[in-house]
Amino acid sequence: MGWVSIVAGVICSLLILIDRVSGIGANWGTQTSHPLPPDTVVQMLKENGFQKVKLFDAEEGTMNALRKSGLEVMVGIPNDMLAVLATSMNAANTWVSTNLSAYINDGVHIRYVAVGNEPFLQTYNGSFLQTTFPALQNIQGALIKAGLSNQVKVTVPLNADVYNSPSGRPSDGDFRSDIRDLMLTIVKFLSDNAAVFTVNIYPFISLYSDSNFPVDYAFFEGSSSGVVDGSVTYSNMFDANLDTLIWALKKNGFANLPVIVGEIGWPTDGDANANIQYAQRFNQGFMNHISTGQGTPMRPELIDAYLFSLIDEDEKSIQPGNFERHWGLYTYDGWPKYQLNLGTTKTGSLVRAKNIQYLDKTWCVLKPSVNLDNSKLAATISYACANADCTSLGYKTSCGDLDVQGNISYAFNSYYQKNDQDDVACGFENLATTTNKDPSTGTCRFGIMIIADSGISRQIEYHGASLLSSVLLLFLTL
Ligand SMILES: *[C@@H]1O[C@H](CO)[C@@H](O)[C@H](O)[C@H]1NC(C)=O
Ligand SMILES: *[C@@H]1O[C@H](CO)[C@@H](O)[C@H](O)[C@H]1NC(C)=O
Ligand SMILES: *[C@@H]1O[C@H](CO)[C@@H](O)[C@H](O)[C@H]1NC(C)=O
Repeated sequence: MGWVSIVAGVICSLLILIDRVSGIGANWGTQTSHPLPPDTVVQMLKENGFQKVKLFDAEEGTMNALRKSGLEVMVGIPNDMLAVLATSMNAANTWVSTNLSAYINDGVHIRYVAVGNEPFLQTYNGSFLQTTFPALQNIQGALIKAGLSNQVKVTVPLNADVYNSPSGRPSDGDFRSDIRDLMLTIVKFLSDNAAVFTVNIYPFISLYSDSNFPVDYAFFEGSSSGVVDGSVTYSNMFDANLDTLIWALKKNGFANLPVIVGEIGWPTDGDANANIQYAQRFNQGFMNHISTGQGTPMRPELIDAYLFSLIDEDEKSIQPGNFERHWGLYTYDGWPKYQLNLGTTKTGSLVRAKNIQYLDKTWCVLKPSVNLDNSKLAATISYACANADCTSLGYKTSCGDLDVQGNISYAFNSYYQKNDQDDVACGFENLATTTNKDPSTGTCRFGIMIIADSGISRQIEYHGASLLSSVLLLFLTL
């Protein structure tokens, strides 16, 4: 009897331990014109039962808010720092002492350092091929020097495009031929240093870039177009993709290297396949899938993952597509976009951010009297869209049903809100006017901006300056 209860006790504490170590994480990006206060975000993360957070840099406000939060942190080093970190051990030491040791001493629970962010993406044309590994080595060296190498592990978040399978079967997986040697060098280094491989997996992008991609294969409810690989049939792309990596690792002698899913998610706007329904279906399907603890056929164990992403970011580059600014589980102002049960809260739904401060209930719209033939319209719309955010306009987006006037008003309002409802930002050659009547319709939300905290006054000045210079330019051309 005694033995049974001891064994049961040990198993129980092991389970609790496992539970604590895994848990779901969130990516917290800050490429936004009006970030929520970091303390508000940390509170929101905790109330939602997130256990981990992944950052793309080591911004001071963010790091300070994470002190004593209990959240496990993966802190990031942006790609543009790789070159200096690759060539200067001194820079690596300084980075570790400023952005790691100092915060750890302050009670931030940092577990990983992400060196670069998807540095081998093909769109970067090889810009970071020479610098990523030496930067990784130098950061690891600096961790050792600081006495942190047992507590903090290095990794490089990579896009799933670093490996592939010519046949489409996971068992034929290997690293991309143009970077295979480099990948093996990095993988060996991670393995030698008891570190982890981090991969970002995006079924949405497969659907976005290939109109013949079977939609149901992107989700988790089974698919008629599954991939048969020996005795295994894959019915969702996530499992097949992750196992392609596991096979690539195994084949090259690293079958046991731990793997983290650094980013996984689905955007809600900016493309016909980016909508609330699909995002909800994907993320809930993913959560249900990993909550079984069964992992994938090649890695039948708990999956360690960070959802991408927590909050929409209105200043992300839209070069990859208009959906880029809409990956958030939350809107810019901290509202959950849809019902999602992370399995971490009593209510089983996402908790909204608390105490959000908004600007006035004022919108900027096209003056009703303006003739749509007005020759000045086109330039004002382009200006507004280039400097604010029109990614919710277009075919099958949340504001795709607006008429021409609605479209123009949307652009004007976006610019006006981004510039903190500055009167000058609702000028547009006298074609615009403010209103207290909410122009939102159906799924199309004409937002009101939140009040920025002092930390971002820099950005307001910047936009003010660009507005001023364009006004000057107008004068010059007249
Ligand atoms: C610390 O991180 C921040 C944010 O990524 C960066 O701007 C800064 O240069 C880093 N500090 C050092 C000493 O490298
Ligand atoms: C990569 O090359 C293409 C074509 O030469 C170019 O259009 C693009 O701007 C380059 N991207 C980067 C990040 O250098
Ligand atoms: C509204 O703007 C979007 C994006 O510029 C465009 O695709 C769409 O055709 C416009 N709709 C109308 C009715 O003008």
